Amino acid sequence: MTLTAWVNGQFLPLEEATVHIEDRGFQFADGVYEVIACFGGTFLDVKAHLQRLEQSCQAIDVVLPLSLNELQSLIEQTYQRNPYSDAMLYIQITRGAAPRSHLVKNRLTPTIVITSRELPIPTDEKLSEGVNAITLTDIRWKRCDIKSIALLASVMGKQEANRRGADETFWLDEHEHVLEGCATNCFAVIDGKLVTHPLDHQVLGGITRNMALQVAREQHIVVEERRWKLNESGLSECMMSSTTNAIMPVCHINDDSIGDGKPGPIAILLRKEILNRFEALKNSELKL
Ligand code: PDD
Repeated sequence: MTLTAWVNGQFLPLEEATVHIEDRGFQFADGVYEVIACFGGTFLDVKAHLQRLEQSCQAIDVVLPLSLNELQSLIEQTYQRNPYSDAMLYIQITRGAAPRSHLVKNRLTPTIVITSRELPIPTDEKLSEGVNAITLTDIRWKRCDIKSIALLASVMGKQEANRRGADETFWLDEHEHVLEGCATNCFAVIDGKLVTHPLDHQVLGGITRNMALQVAREQHIVVEERRWKLNESGLSECMMSSTTNAIMPVCHINDDSIGDGKPGPIAILLRKEILNRFEALKNSELKL
């Protein structure tokens, strides 16, 4: 099956879609990215993702050479040229290609790559049992609010989690507060309230995090955006959120059970409500 990518102005078969070896994304990880889910032809929160992409570009002083509407149209065309009904669209933008030098004096033409992949579906076991996480001291940089393509620490965190038979690593600050995962935001239920780290330079402002907090409030669950630790009394559930996971209960951390070691009622409720939204999107009139 041939997949198609958008790369620097044209659609190409994936095997032919290449960037220059002096692309600053390759040389310096000098770029940003977004991941957007599409359910049966309807994109989830596309405007919020595009806005975050624009913010990430602004934060690294890259000027997008096209409008967000034009970019959205290219993302939609990439979806349509690929075989997946439920897909995740990756948009990678780098500062461009230039002879290798940390400093770049002139504005370059940014490299833009868009690919579409099948949206992974969690196994039945993960859905009924929840997933496992480990914790590691955060070794990432101090601008985690930018969705940077420099993901080495996250790759190392994921590899270590996998090596220990877990699915995700939760990063801890120096006082052992839970920040976020390698590719997810993290939540706990403490004394019946949904708690998550506040938005700052240590976490990405997850679009699914936002949705989860909104759904929780609609369900009359009290939300607290504050620093939290795994050893707090009253902690009964943990969960993580991302575009590719929706809400996923996390039932074991570092071999300790969270609550009774089964998905808890708030994680189940939030997951159900969010999946209902996804299902509604599939049937929506906005379909491409
Ligand atoms: N990751 N935190 C980090 C560090 C992330 O990389 C992600 C997303 C999130 C959740 O963000 P959102 O709800 O907007 O997807 C939080 C994506 C899925 C990825 O890198 O593939």
